[in-house]
Amino acid sequence: MQTNFEMQHRWNQALQNNYGSPSLTLVKGDGARVWDIEGREYLDFLAGIATNILGHAHPKIVEAIAAQAKLLGHVSNLYSHPTAIELAEKLKSFTGQERAKTFFCNSGAEANEAALKLSRLTGRNRVISTQGSFHGRTMGALSMTGQIAKRKPFKPLLKSVDFIAFNNLKAAKRAINKRVAMVIVEPIQGENGVVVPDLGYLKYLRELTAKHGVLLALDCVQTGMGRTGQWFGYENEEIIPDIVTLAKGLGGGLPLGAMIAIGESADLFSPGSHGSTFGGSPIACAASLAAISVIEDQNILPRIKELELTLKLEISKSPLVDQVRGSGLLLGITLKLPVAKTLVTQLQERGLLVNATSDIVIRIAPPLIITDQQVSHFVEVFREVAATHER
Ligand SMILES: Cc1ncc(COP(=O)(O)O)c(C=O)c1O
Repeated sequence: MQTNFEMQHRWNQALQNNYGSPSLTLVKGDGARVWDIEGREYLDFLAGIATNILGHAHPKIVEAIAAQAKLLGHVSNLYSHPTAIELAEKLKSFTGQERAKTFFCNSGAEANEAALKLSRLTGRNRVISTQGSFHGRTMGALSMTGQIAKRKPFKPLLKSVDFIAFNNLKAAKRAINKRVAMVIVEPIQGENGVVVPDLGYLKYLRELTAKHGVLLALDCVQTGMGRTGQWFGYENEEIIPDIVTLAKGLGGGLPLGAMIAIGESADLFSPGSHGSTFGGSPIACAASLAAISVIEDQNILPRIKELELTLKLEISKSPLVDQVRGSGLLLGITLKLPVAKTLVTQLQERGLLVNATSDIVIRIAPPLIITDQQVSHFVEVFREVAATHER
């Protein structure tokens, strides 16, 4: 039998060091459970970081992928195919708008790159983003990412991006004017530690951007596809953005990104403006459609808010926990001591997968099919492990 340690060694010799050196090699998944190469079982409370929306190896997704692969695996963008059309129509229906058109790509960074290019076609070039935000690692998306450590080694980045404090109305008012092409913001800053703005912030951004003819792009890469209990993470604000970007959960575990342009911005791209060879491939779109129909047919979304309340209530009972913030099944557990990284290792040893976004924040993003019993198990083990840090 091969061990995690041996695989880590092979990884180090053959793969670049951009992810560090993973200590676990996962080989199998089923629902919310995964197994490592030594046969040890884990409860996956991270789901590919908010990506395996229906967990691992969901039979409907597996079936859809296999059927599509047998039928038609890839076509160039010189031709259309039914799954992309069907999925774009579905996404349009989720926006509730008559005019909403999708560009498909493969990832969140690419979806935001597409939004950035679209914004240039307004004839303006300035972009406003927020401090602490994360929009991806490609040069355009990184230029809009408000995290100094990630930007610094790669400067010079685009000079046309300004950063304002997140959730700060005055800063937004000062920065947004008629020279700005686009404001890009996450409904919840996931990578920054699940930071939730006050209710009304996005609405205020919508009012300001509308007043000055500025596009409002909502990066729902992490908060989309039902993760917050709604299809898109901004729906609690009852606003209509100009652009929605999606990836992660969109493909049900396959690489798929989308940039949905709404209203007048829907027709800014013209032939030759942008493209992607694999974007919106028949197989990824088939997987996405399968995931969406499971969520709809099993009426999964209303349950997500209930799970949020249970998790917030139960996890908060741990004396180590300061606060549990977030929405639906995207939650940040803030700790009173800077032990998040140690806690992640301890939880992994007890068979629970989570991640630390900093020394004091643990992020959880379990699949939407997580069972009540799995939630109870998580809470029990989390509290036991947290208790080892209580004085
Ligand atoms: C809000 C947000 N936008 C964009 C991205 C980048 O997505 P990808 O890694 O698919 O390029 C992420 C990834 O974590 C994200 O959370």
